[in-house]
Amino acid sequence: MCGIFGIVTQEEQTLGPILIAAARRLSYRGYDSVGCATLHEDGSIDLRKDVGKVDDVAERLNFAEMSGRRGITQLRWATFGVPSQVNSQPHLDSDGDLVGAHNGNVVNNIELRAAFIAEGMTVRSTNDGETCVHAVERYVDRGYSMLEAIRHAYEDLEGDYAFVIGRAGEEELYAFKKGSGLVAGLGEGFSCVSSDLPSILPLTRHVLRMEDGEIVVLRAERLTLIDVATGQPISREIEEVTEGMDAAQKGGYAHFMLKEIHEQPQVAQELLHLFDASPHVAPFVEQMRRARNLYLIGCGTSYHACVAGSVYLARLAGRPAIPVLAPQFIPQYAPTVGPEDVGIFVSQSGETKDVLNALHAARANEMQALGLVNVIGSTLTKKCDRYLPLACGYEISVPATKTFTNQMLAFLYLAMRLGGHETESLQQLPALIEQTLRETEPQVAALVDSLRAWDEFYCLGYGSTYPIALEGALKLKEITYAHCEGMLSTEFKHGPLAAVRESYPVLFVSGPEDVPLMISGINETTVRGGKTIVIAEEDPRLRANAHKMITLPAAGPLLTPLLAVLPLQLLSYQLSLARGYDPDFPRNLSKTLTVD
Ligand code: G6P
Repeated sequence: MCGIFGIVTQEEQTLGPILIAAARRLSYRGYDSVGCATLHEDGSIDLRKDVGKVDDVAERLNFAEMSGRRGITQLRWATFGVPSQVNSQPHLDSDGDLVGAHNGNVVNNIELRAAFIAEGMTVRSTNDGETCVHAVERYVDRGYSMLEAIRHAYEDLEGDYAFVIGRAGEEELYAFKKGSGLVAGLGEGFSCVSSDLPSILPLTRHVLRMEDGEIVVLRAERLTLIDVATGQPISREIEEVTEGMDAAQKGGYAHFMLKEIHEQPQVAQELLHLFDASPHVAPFVEQMRRARNLYLIGCGTSYHACVAGSVYLARLAGRPAIPVLAPQFIPQYAPTVGPEDVGIFVSQSGETKDVLNALHAARANEMQALGLVNVIGSTLTKKCDRYLPLACGYEISVPATKTFTNQMLAFLYLAMRLGGHETESLQQLPALIEQTLRETEPQVAALVDSLRAWDEFYCLGYGSTYPIALEGALKLKEITYAHCEGMLSTEFKHGPLAAVRESYPVLFVSGPEDVPLMISGINETTVRGGKTIVIAEEDPRLRANAHKMITLPAAGPLLTPLLAVLPLQLLSYQLSLARGYDPDFPRNLSKTLTVD
């Protein structure tokens, strides 16, 4: 996930070390390239950028010596355009007197780029950050002031992003917010703006938190907020931040896991915008369509998304797809595959050794490889024929949450496209995720006391909720250290039912179409003393049969699984805390497993 930072000072000075330090503070967000631009009083602009780590690029290009009155730094996490020097940010306009950088995605990038080229502008990269700069240039060239040009550009640029820009010969920087985070700060003799609060705090504790649809004009001695719609100033008091750095990094949440759980509405929306606009989706779907056999390959949480993917593909596209745990792909399928077969390799990190091993085995028989990967620039993104990003930004907490949701959503989207369905109905999903989190959090909290002492659970699902049961069980195991087995609800009676005794907790996750089947399973458990907790949309039949219900918004059979995982994430989180553990960093586990 990209990060931007800009600073305006009273006097020309060496800004390099300030920019490097800001870039280091933003680096936890994940990135593949880094750049700095400084604007001098004489009107010249110094721009240095490249692919690589902050410290390496800073040393190679000597960022430390860069000076000026205004400076911008950007860390790029590639979405539009490969990681490369020319796609790195900041970017210049055609004649080099505007410089800017963005964070987020401009989803009409391709159309705007083509328009700017047709209008005679010099477009150097395929990156949408450059598109933001030209969007302002277009109106500056027509004689508008910077502020007016930015207001027009804001209308032209679709998507979720934040942007900072400066013009040679002026004293200001301008930044605006449309979907992505942006915070401005005011200190002694300077003002600054950044993608997040933690990167500002070491400089100043006096901040303005910005809302979507606002422009901030930065001068060394003051910040001016402007309403993009009216062009009028907005009056807002500068607040003094008292929270510590650690709390600020967690965005006010107690743990990264909780923060990442609550980021799910936003990342789902970003993925939908991205896929709607991406030219890579159509060839990806075409490659799936032409496959003889289609394998969905991953480990852990990513494997559970593969199981969900195979259900979506069967249901929406009539396309059989075989979900398989990556290491098992090698003995079970690799000897049988050939160039007509396609594997979709699914991974948050793109570095899981088990997944890369499966990819090598597949390649040995010339199988085609597609990727669904969160970390752009990872090994998997380099070794696949093509990949689609999961657009979740950096996931810090070891238990995967937002990346699972976007993996499932990616599969749902691809299945709809493969089956020739409109994807418009998915637009309601971010709001449904938000509603589910809001409504189920207190319902989950009410259960924690009765469950905290149990060291064993079952979590059962059927059809499209089967992978949710597997994922819910994995979350519980990872961070509560209780044993929880996820399984197909119908299998429970074939053995595990023997474990049930008084108050024994069994979680059922039910889709709206599976209620009659679930009711049988629920009763088989309750008559033996078990305590049944059902996660489903409101249904009088389930309410009559279960001990407890966690009620989901009514969303239909396709979206219910995506919502049902949310209370299971919350339950795992809350039980982890109740049992005295740190959900972000569970014992024995690693976020990225690069060993066999
Ligand atoms: C590790 C992590 C899991 C993750 C799995 C696959 O085991 O602890 O949370 O699901 O690896 O990771 P990947 O990065 O390939 O999705």
